[in-house]
Amino acid sequence: MSLGARFVTFEGIDGSGKSSQARLLAAALREAGREVCLTREPGGSPGAEEIRRLLVEGAGDRWSAETEVLLFTAARRDHLERTIRPALARGAVVICDRFADSTRVYQGVAGAGLRALVDELHARFIGIEPDLTLILDMDPASALARSAARQAGGPREVRFESLGSDHHVRLRAGFRALAAEFPARCRLIDATRPEVEVAAEVARLFALAEAGA
Ligand code: TYD
Repeated sequence: MSLGARFVTFEGIDGSGKSSQARLLAAALREAGREVCLTREPGGSPGAEEIRRLLVEGAGDRWSAETEVLLFTAARRDHLERTIRPALARGAVVICDRFADSTRVYQGVAGAGLRALVDELHARFIGIEPDLTLILDMDPASALARSAARQAGGPREVRFESLGSDHHVRLRAGFRALAAEFPARCRLIDATRPEVEVAAEVARLFALAEAGA
């Protein structure tokens, strides 16, 4: 069996449906008898979940852009040490709802030069990339309507969602640019379609990646 898709990440703007799709892929693989570690960022380990609260709650200007990058990187390092690496070592498939690409895009669009800082910290403290990254692409207006309807994370987690729709247009463009930057591991998926159709494409892309195609 090929080990071509052991570490899979889902990315996309808020409300794109990536968390549901991550859950659906995890359920399908478990059904097929695979061990799956379904996890998320920011968070995914007890320490990183504490850092998550610092990041997603409170006022939009609570942290400088640089401090925010450091916090995301600190959370990711703990998540990697405590959750991701042990799961990969046991032979599990790791499915992560957001990873380093979110930092490249969200913090990278926040200001000139930040992408270089993000890359530097990633190289120094994280140093791994997913085998497969599924980017759920959709128009920000529909995505925002979806996420407002379900109030992701409860009413306290509004720090990033409160940034306005121009911001989401830039984020979408950032994810699309990322797909072009890392074509070997990134796949762009049209997420405006019904959930079952998107799930079928996710399963197909996972199978292709696993076969090393
Ligand atoms: P998440 O829990 O995935 O929210 P949602 O399910 O609503 O998409 O992520 C919380 C917020 O954190 C989200 O707005 C994206 C942001 N974020 C970053 O800005 N940088 C990062 O590196 C990560 C992982 C998330």
